[in-house]
Amino acid sequence: MNKMDVVRQLLEKKSLVAVPQHKTAKAFAPTNIALIKYWGKRDNQLNLPVTSSLSISLGQTGTETTIGFSEQDHDVVVLNQQIMPPDHVFAKRLRDFLNLFRATPDTYFVVNTISHLPVAAGLASSASGFAALIQALDQLFAWQLAKNELSILARLGSGSACRSLWSGFVEWTAGQRSDGMDSVGHFMDIIWPDLRIGLLILTEHEKTISSRVAMEQTKNTSDLYKIWPEKVAKDLTEIKTTLINHDFVSMGKIAETNALAMHATMLTADPPILYSNAQTIEAMHKIWALRQAGLPIYFTQDAGPNLKLLFLKQDERVVLQHFPTVSVIHPFN
Ligand code: PMV
Repeated sequence: MNKMDVVRQLLEKKSLVAVPQHKTAKAFAPTNIALIKYWGKRDNQLNLPVTSSLSISLGQTGTETTIGFSEQDHDVVVLNQQIMPPDHVFAKRLRDFLNLFRATPDTYFVVNTISHLPVAAGLASSASGFAALIQALDQLFAWQLAKNELSILARLGSGSACRSLWSGFVEWTAGQRSDGMDSVGHFMDIIWPDLRIGLLILTEHEKTISSRVAMEQTKNTSDLYKIWPEKVAKDLTEIKTTLINHDFVSMGKIAETNALAMHATMLTADPPILYSNAQTIEAMHKIWALRQAGLPIYFTQDAGPNLKLLFLKQDERVVLQHFPTVSVIHPFN
């Protein structure tokens, strides 16, 4: 089973010819941050995960994508008002994805992307990017696919993108089918208005090793990875209860240890993978010291050196005093 088979299955009776009234289409998708991480694939082609995962979407922070047809003999990819050279990694990933949706080999697109976050710095910009793009394509072609179908298609671009179709908490169930039709995001009907996420951007540099390569290397070589699926299953069950009960301290603890466990599997890979830099470690120590002093603050970390802080509305002012550069996100506003 390859990506094209999945696309054919979902777009069986749909058209790849735009309806005339839609010259361009525009969509927005929020970035999502996993509280229980997706790390490791059971199928590299279709981005099918070894485990389920759970995320929180970042409200109005994400990606806005406009798509139309190109009159030139190639795709035109614009990122934050800059035309990307065709060999740029961003343009290449986009082109590969668009290849799945061309009516003829000489159908080309113009894709204009506004990303609210630095691209490829472990801030899940690709998640919101592919989620916005697939929704823009859905409008352009008037497919009117359901959200779960769009989630499956977004996953073909980037695994975590399947969680960016919704706001709030989303669970991505790993599924068991080889075509991945059951590996899809599910909106969780839980609202937690006082929850805050702080983006602590320590570097905007692009990551040195992609999450795709890092996951594979970890899965294939790390002994600690063997216990990862069990850890995720336990964390996932427990965190859902904390979300229902708005039990912030237990939620923070589970999310933080889950992220640290993921990074521990990477540290024990061969060769080892370490996304943290000196500032990351310094910030972690600072968070732990603040917690010791009574401030309920936790963090999570993805495939990059930046941290995402977890705290509550009541502590926003104090958190900003300690981390003046943090961007505070209100996920439920
Ligand atoms: O979807 P990808 O290939 O960008 O991988 C995302 C991996 C993590 O961000 C580290 C974890 C996650 O669940 O988002």
